[in-house]
Amino acid sequence: MDRQIHLGIFTLGTGNHTAGWRYPGADDSFTDLSVNQRIAATAERGLFDLMFVGDGLSANLASHPSYTVRLEPVTMLAALAMTTAHIGLGATMSTTYSDPYTVARAFASLDHISNGRAAWNAVTTAAAASGGNFGKVHPDHDTRYERAEEFIEVVRGLWDCWDDDAVIRDRKTGRYLDVSRIRALNHVGKHFSVRGPLNMGRCPQGQPVILQAGGSDPGHALAARSADVVFSVVQDFDEAKSAYASLKERVRRFGRDPDKVSILPGVMPIIGDTDAHAFEILNTLQGYLDSSEGLALLSARLGVDISRHPLDGPIPELSLPDTSHGFAKAMLSKARRDNMTLRDLYNLTAAARGHWVLCGSAKTVADTLEKWFVERAADGFNIMPAYFPEALNDFVDQVVPELQRRGVYRKAYSGMTLRDHLGLARPDLRS
Ligand SMILES: Cc1cc2nc3c(=O)[nH]c(=O)nc-3n(C[C@H](O)[C@H](O)[C@H](O)COP(=O)(O)O)c2cc1C
Repeated sequence: MDRQIHLGIFTLGTGNHTAGWRYPGADDSFTDLSVNQRIAATAERGLFDLMFVGDGLSANLASHPSYTVRLEPVTMLAALAMTTAHIGLGATMSTTYSDPYTVARAFASLDHISNGRAAWNAVTTAAAASGGNFGKVHPDHDTRYERAEEFIEVVRGLWDCWDDDAVIRDRKTGRYLDVSRIRALNHVGKHFSVRGPLNMGRCPQGQPVILQAGGSDPGHALAARSADVVFSVVQDFDEAKSAYASLKERVRRFGRDPDKVSILPGVMPIIGDTDAHAFEILNTLQGYLDSSEGLALLSARLGVDISRHPLDGPIPELSLPDTSHGFAKAMLSKARRDNMTLRDLYNLTAAARGHWVLCGSAKTVADTLEKWFVERAADGFNIMPAYFPEALNDFVDQVVPELQRRGVYRKAYSGMTLRDHLGLARPDLRS
């Protein structure tokens, strides 16, 4: 089969389950470089396309420890570039609390350092508390997305200010640059004025890969217009299939090729010797949760303080503010469909922070991922191991060979850059 599953590994420095760090043998430091190096090495052994590191800009002390105790991702990925050779390296940087020139430099640098493996997750930052760290009032949702659209255009423009052959290094004549091949950007827009050019030659991928994970309507529009890889939040097959079809259609409406945009739902695979054993592992993990943590996380996800509602009652009518629409929508619709109580919902949220949890033997997990891929509910998956290192080892050692046997996953890297892994051509300069 020509079409192949793309895999990302989603890491916060340790496991994705809120209490995964308490599992026997699990890594429990979110700032230990060697933990991250080992995650990258294992994911590379499993031939993953990409390692993705999320980021936030405020310390929510009541929530998942990784939301508070974390390394700045681009710095960390630059270090991982030195101990890996193939895996793509993706990091979050905010379009609300950064400026385009700095972001363009950071990811172009990471692309040079890693020989073409950089990816930028352009997020608008939902957490209002971030504003206080930048002397800003948190902008409303529409303004954040309007700014993001212009931000990405400016970053991409900066990446293209240099022709590929602008650095000539002619020792005889003493000319280092052919300045006729370097242009200013001269961008003047509603949110930014950026002259350019960037102070760096064009990077190995031409344009680093752009990731997007917004779940709201403007989030999907931004993804359809600009993203190469979209991380989605879905809980079941039918929902994933219809979200996939609708985003691909949107990509087409922007005049882009839908096959060149990979949609990767987030999934936390819990792998056991049997399906029943996998559920036992999940129960053990859930047993480590404390209810205040779960309530805080769910409140943060929904943007509403839910602690005053009865835990064992049905999901109350909530008037959701202008925060993370994508997560809120996916979680509330799942909860209502399955007649969950608030306690069920916070348990689900605390497990994978609102993402899909898939329990089973390696065969069950591979069957399910294969079905989602073949029936076009996904182009691959953003794998969220509950804890490290064992949960990732289980996936790489047991599920990856199953997927390879079925012909839906690569048996070796066929290229060197992240664009190669994703089947994306190195772009010409945008005119
Ligand atoms: C897989 C995944 C990873 C994400 N990573 C981040 C992140 O690192 N930092 C962040 O601020 N938001 C992150 N988000 C949140 C979204 O990108 C988005 O900003 C948020 O959901 C609000 O936008 P929306 O209203 O369009 O959903 C992530 C979402 C998903 C699905």
